[in-house]
Parts: sequence; structure tokens; C-alpha cells
Amino acid sequence: MSDIVLETRGLVKEFGGLRAVDGVDFVLRRGELRCLIGPNGAGKSTFFHLLAGTLRPTAGGIRFKDLDLTRLEPHEIARAGMGIKFQVPRVYDQLPVAENLWLSAHVRHGRAAAGTVADRVLDEIRFLQHRNTPVGHLSHGDRQWVEIGMVLAAEPELILLDEPTAGMTHAEARRTADLVREINRRATVIVVEHDMDFVRHLAAGVTVLHRGAILAQGSMDEIRDNPVVRDIYLGKRRRARG
Ligand SMILES: Nc1ncnc2c1ncn2[C@@H]1O[C@H](COP(=O)(O)OP(=O)(O)O)[C@@H](O)[C@H]1O
Ligand SMILES: [Mg+2]
Repeated sequence: MSDIVLETRGLVKEFGGLRAVDGVDFVLRRGELRCLIGPNGAGKSTFFHLLAGTLRPTAGGIRFKDLDLTRLEPHEIARAGMGIKFQVPRVYDQLPVAENLWLSAHVRHGRAAAGTVADRVLDEIRFLQHRNTPVGHLSHGDRQWVEIGMVLAAEPELILLDEPTAGMTHAEARRTADLVREINRRATVIVVEHDMDFVRHLAAGVTVLHRGAILAQGSMDEIRDNPVVRDIYLGKRRRARG
């Protein structure tokens, strides 16, 4: 059996004639942890939506295990083992943390197992003390963790995380990187991230997306030393900060 879990070929997504994703050939092996970086508007979130089936490609193919994803609905893709945390939060603010997790576990495991799975995830994200807290009462960083928990509750084989540390403090982002590494022990993970310190801490392979296309791939060190990447992405961010 091939150890390639996800593969896209010539993947294209156009919005009104403009290409948000422009011919992406992407390969991910089982068990990998990969960071997807690139400037705002590079097409990272659109790429995730194509993988999750919430957007349809204009052209190209996506294979997840032995499945042709371009033919499946989002709920079928989720059932096949893909879990995604979108950039825009999808938690139920008025419901307690435990119920959010329960709902997610229920979709994948059914009523009988949902409680056990939700409890395990509560423990894993160290949120037992927040069990009965409505999600809307939590800090922004903690809400992001609940969202990651909801993905975990479905026990996916492939997990896509879109900017999981957005709005987090440095310390929270560090803890999130540790959680992502823990998750990667049992699942293949792609994470979109802006924080270079987070990316370095993950020690993952990096794919750089620019204007909808793959600009470079490699280790964080290789990416950092790549003059084109420096100029287009890292350099620009340094200037913007400085
Ligand atoms: N639903 C949409 N309709 C039209 N244009 C879109 C839509 N979603 C994204 N885009 C455009 O596609 C490009 C890539 O966006 P996005 O995938 O969100 O980038 P990133 O996540 O890398 O910041 C941007 O130019 C954005 O404006
Ligand atoms: Mg995005």
C-alpha cells in the first residue's frame, strides 16, 4: 500500500476568472506534519476548502487515500477521515465546552460512544475544568483549543488546521505547537501558520504558497535560506513589523 495519504494534481480554483489556487501538485505522506505558509491571499484557506470539499475545484484532482475527493460531499470526506479547523470559528458559543465536543464526537461515533470520546478529548486538551463553561465565555485562545478539540473528537486520520494560533499570546501559541506535535503522533497534520517561531518549534516540513502556487518546499532552514522566499514572504513580514 502506498504511504501517500493525500495528493493533488494540477489543482485550480478560480473566483470570477482570478486564480486563488493555480495548479498545485501537493503530496503528503502518512504520519507527516507539514506547515503551509505564505502571505495573506496566497490561497492557503482556499486550498483547505478544496480538500475538505466545501469548495469545488475549477480543474485538477484530489486523492485522499483511495478516494477521488472531487466526487465527494464534505460530510463524506469527513466520514472518510479528514478533519478540518477552518480559519473562521465554527463553535457553538452558547453551549458548554463538553457539549461542543460531544456533538462533534456524535457525528462520527454515534450516541453510545460520544460521551467517552468527548471526555477523552477534554482531558487531552486539558479542559476538564472548563467542561461546563459556555464556549462564548472563554478567551479567544481557549476557543481555538475547543475548535481543535472538536476536530480531535471526530478522530480523523488527516487533520487540517487553518491558523490555529491566530490571536493567541506567545505562550499560548507555544502550548498549541506542543499539542499539534502530540496530535501528530497519531494523525497526519497540515497546519497553516503565520508565526515563524511556531513553525520552527514544530520542526515540520514547510510548503510555501504564493499567488496560489507552490513557491518552495523543504525544511524550515532550507525555506529560510531560500532567497526568493525571503524576499517575497519573510522579508516582507520583517519590513512590515520593523
Ligand atoms: N469566496 C471567495 N470569493 C472570491 N474570492 C475569494 C473567495 N475566497 C478567497 N478569495 C480570494 O482568493 C485569494 C486567496 O484567498 P485565501 O485562500 O483566503 O488566502 P489565504 O488563506 O492564503 O490568506 C484571495 O485573493 C481572496 O481574496
Ligand atoms: Mg487564510
